[in-house]
Amino acid sequence: MPPKWNSPLYLLLFIQILAIPSNSQPQFPCKPPEHHTHPFCNTSLPIPTRAQSLLSLLTIPEKITQLSDHASPIPRLGLPAYEWWSESLHGVATNGPGVSFSGPIRSATLFPQVLLSAATFNASLWYSIASAIAVEARAMYNAGQAGLTFWAPSVNLFRDPRWGRGQETPGEDPFVAAAYAVEYVKGLQRDSVMMGGGDGKLMLSACCKHFTGYDLEKWRGFTRYTFDAVISEQDLEDTYQPPFKSCIQQGKASCLMCSYNRVNGIPACARQDLLQEVRTKWGFNGYITSDCDAVATIFEYQGYVQSPEQAVAVAFNSGLFDGDPAKGKYGKLGPQNVCSPEHTKLALEAARQGIVLLKNEKSFLPLNRNSIASLAVIGPLANDSLQLGGGYSGIPCNSWSFLEGFESFVEKVSYTAGCIDVPCRSSDGFKEAVHIAKEADVVIVVAGLDLSQETEDLDRVSLLLPGKQMELVSAVAVASQRPLVLVLTGGGPIDVSFADADSRIASIIWVGYPGEGGAQALAEIIFGDYNPGGRLPMTWYPESFTSVPMNDMSMRADPYCNYPGRTYRFYTGETVYRFGHGLSYSNYTHKFLSVPHKLMFEAQISTSPVKNMLYQTREELAYIPIDEVSSSCDSLIFEAQISVTNTGDMDGSHVVMLFSRAPRLFKGVPEKQLIGFTRVQTTSRRSTQTSIKVEPCKHLSVVNENGHPVLPLGYHKLTLEGVDHFVFIEMNATRAAFES
Ligand SMILES: *[C@@H]1O[C@H](CO)[C@@H](O)[C@H](O)[C@H]1NC(C)=O
Ligand SMILES: *[C@@H]1O[C@H](CO)[C@@H](O)[C@H](O)[C@H]1NC(C)=O
Ligand SMILES: *[C@@H]1O[C@H](CO)[C@@H](O)[C@H](O)[C@H]1NC(C)=O
Ligand SMILES: *[C@@H]1O[C@H](CO)[C@@H](O)[C@H](O)[C@H]1NC(C)=O
Ligand SMILES: *[C@@H]1O[C@H](CO)[C@@H](O)[C@H](O)[C@H]1NC(C)=O
Repeated sequence: MPPKWNSPLYLLLFIQILAIPSNSQPQFPCKPPEHHTHPFCNTSLPIPTRAQSLLSLLTIPEKITQLSDHASPIPRLGLPAYEWWSESLHGVATNGPGVSFSGPIRSATLFPQVLLSAATFNASLWYSIASAIAVEARAMYNAGQAGLTFWAPSVNLFRDPRWGRGQETPGEDPFVAAAYAVEYVKGLQRDSVMMGGGDGKLMLSACCKHFTGYDLEKWRGFTRYTFDAVISEQDLEDTYQPPFKSCIQQGKASCLMCSYNRVNGIPACARQDLLQEVRTKWGFNGYITSDCDAVATIFEYQGYVQSPEQAVAVAFNSGLFDGDPAKGKYGKLGPQNVCSPEHTKLALEAARQGIVLLKNEKSFLPLNRNSIASLAVIGPLANDSLQLGGGYSGIPCNSWSFLEGFESFVEKVSYTAGCIDVPCRSSDGFKEAVHIAKEADVVIVVAGLDLSQETEDLDRVSLLLPGKQMELVSAVAVASQRPLVLVLTGGGPIDVSFADADSRIASIIWVGYPGEGGAQALAEIIFGDYNPGGRLPMTWYPESFTSVPMNDMSMRADPYCNYPGRTYRFYTGETVYRFGHGLSYSNYTHKFLSVPHKLMFEAQISTSPVKNMLYQTREELAYIPIDEVSSSCDSLIFEAQISVTNTGDMDGSHVVMLFSRAPRLFKGVPEKQLIGFTRVQTTSRRSTQTSIKVEPCKHLSVVNENGHPVLPLGYHKLTLEGVDHFVFIEMNATRAAFES
């Protein structure tokens, strides 16, 4: 029996039509004259007819050749081979056989690893980065060096600080991850509109991954391939799913990748219920792939493709089905568009905006370059220009080591590694490190993590600095004439409480994996050419957190089991640095200029009886179940008008975060929740106005234990960088309640 029209196979075939053979000029189907007579090439026929036409022409053996990430060519129909798997997490990357750096294009702009870009809290920057990646990727496609289907962004939450791939994510907060996902997908796909809007052509296809509950590589006996993530309804709804939901709903991603792990006993790729919900409730119209064995799984778990017309639109919208791609609007992109000056500048700008100043005692930084005769730079990564991108990197256009960055500011720079490598198992190099530290005016130690500590298939077991790095930092701190500057590389949080407490370590900077602009950005910050403003997108926990089982997916604390909860939303224990922490060379004060004190929810319920809709506590209306009343929500939306005053001496680009805390009506209400952020340019000694839009049903609601979003009535606390404001939400439904 031929596959039914709604079989995923149709989807495969039609995406396959995007096809290119690797390492040569892109080929395309429907090339006149030899294939032009096939009905599937006839643009005046409806898409389902074209799809059916194509499928009817394939033999069973031909169909089977299409079921892996490498789809074979079918020359008699003009279908070239296609490699589905290309990567572009923070720049076109070498992971994935769809990309090749041998050809006319030898490198691509290496933007900061995602976690550091997240630390900018600048949504327009995220969009710009993804747009730049899209231009370079499309140029590489035109040169036969990349595909059109990219398996990014990665929007799992950085749930546990040990996770080796936390660096690839936008951090621990679902609101931030959701916002990041939307910008990335919009930027990469451009006219993302297979689903209405724009000119209907996708520039590339982005893929939200890894759906869902994936954030463990290997811990004790657990591995990602078989791990069963046990997730409550409440955690699923308010923590694990929101980034994916936004990635699909607002970003309109054309691909979703399901993860290796199980979710509550069933492999994520076989969760009919969850995947069905993605189709029906979230309106997903694209293709679903599984991690790394793409198409086989789609075929295996048939039945997800509910709306084939939209699904095949992924392919049709890339234009290739309808003629020579070189004549399309992206056809002119080529080597001149890769590593362009604008992209190089954007990579630098992203690193500047992301780098986080964690400690700066007595305003030790910035250094005045005119009063510094000599600098000692110590650390195994300081003279390494190849490790600056972290996981899923490509080949950078330009790469500078941190050392070269400092050398561009100070003439006399001495360097020694101290430890021969990041694992730092020996103290043999300490003597030399102490020696150069004694001689220099100022000492900078570059410590922290690289991919030998955290990566795919490798979680950390400790949050402390690797090996003897801590001893190195302390030995140098004792020897140096003045307090030193500690620079930390890597994605995962590091317990540096020893350094935070030590006044011989004046300043601590988290530089993440800053990409190709990182060395210059770091030097600019240390010497005051750029005023740092990045903020941590995840909690930095103390080493004691490693007693928490990594396989426990619960977000909420459970005092009976000594379980402390996870992320700033639920964790109540000690931190090394909090989510959102980040200093500047300026100080800022904040004020609400206008924000409502009271919101009246007008219940206009005619369809469902009020008594079903309202849940009551002690005769009073306690909360509103959002799902049942969403139409009345719009009238509650407001803009919080905000004033930010820069009270310092330096201009600065400054992040403003708005948190809420709901009345604690039932179990599991978050301690607080980020509901808005913006980044504003400020001028020294001046005030700047900005605003944050608040949608109460979305932002002030919480998810109950059954996984349903509800808006609690009563006092909600809004917190703007330490300034509190209460909003009282009430409901005008008493009369209606009595009537029914
Ligand atoms: C394309 O389809 C249209 C509509 O069915 C038909 O009129 C036309 O002849 C077809 N063109 C070719 C080249 O087959
Ligand atoms: C830095 O590394 C480069 C390349 O490995 C090496 O040639 C150079 O000598 C190193 N610089 C110092 C100061 O050690
Ligand atoms: C910011 O304000 C704090 C507290 O008043 C003060 O200690 C610190 O020196 C100020 N920092 C700057 C950069 O002005
Ligand atoms: C946000 O990033 C964009 C893109 O780089 C930049 O133009 C803008 O100035 C940034 N905003 C702030 C406040 O720094
Ligand atoms: C409450 O609802 C009633 C009936 O719909 C309406 O007449 C009244 O104006 C509302 N009161 C307020 C304070 O909004």
